[in-house]
Amino acid sequence: MAFQKTLLALCIAAGLAIVGGGVSAAEQKAKAPTTPGGKAAYTRQENFKQQGAVFKAIRDELKKDAPSMALISTSAVKLKNSADALPTWFPKGSGPESKYATDAKPEVWTDPVKFASAVKRLQVEATKFQTIAASGDIGAMRAQSQAVGGTCKGCHDSFRVPEEK
Ligand code: HEC
Repeated sequence: MAFQKTLLALCIAAGLAIVGGGVSAAEQKAKAPTTPGGKAAYTRQENFKQQGAVFKAIRDELKKDAPSMALISTSAVKLKNSADALPTWFPKGSGPESKYATDAKPEVWTDPVKFASAVKRLQVEATKFQTIAASGDIGAMRAQSQAVGGTCKGCHDSFRVPEEK
């Protein structure tokens, strides 16, 4: 009986090990951070998820024949605010050395001038988007949302570890 129980336990453990081997990066990230740097990295990723959701809401809305101006202008404010807050999401110690599964490259901290200019580009384009959103010109909003998207990509290309394909 005891032997059977042990065997069962071993099988379960082996099964878990197999499942464990297949844990995705996203699931690993969901693991609670333990260090202050790890916590900051975790919070940063949450902030980026929100920023991503806000920007997606804008782009989705602009694909419609009759976009909701209310939704776009509310989202434009959120986007601008998060662009302004972005530099505070990268405290020292929240990079790869935090041992947390962050995709922020060390260059964020080793090349602060270049990083600051990537931040600035987003802030400038997000501010323009907010102004254009208030104008009601949908064509101009569509064009400006592309400009904003270009600044996201610009920074990701230099400062974010590429996503696994
Ligand atoms: C100045 C640099 C910079 C700009 C500008 C920028 N990002 Fe990022 N983004 C990063 C970095 C670095 C990471 C990786 C964060 C981490 O893993 O710690 C990231 C991660 C993300 C993530 C993944 C979050 C997660 O872990 O689930 C999303 C979504 C995202 N960014 C959306 C956007 C969008 C949308 C924009 C433009 C509106 C944008 N980013 C602009 C640097 C930037």
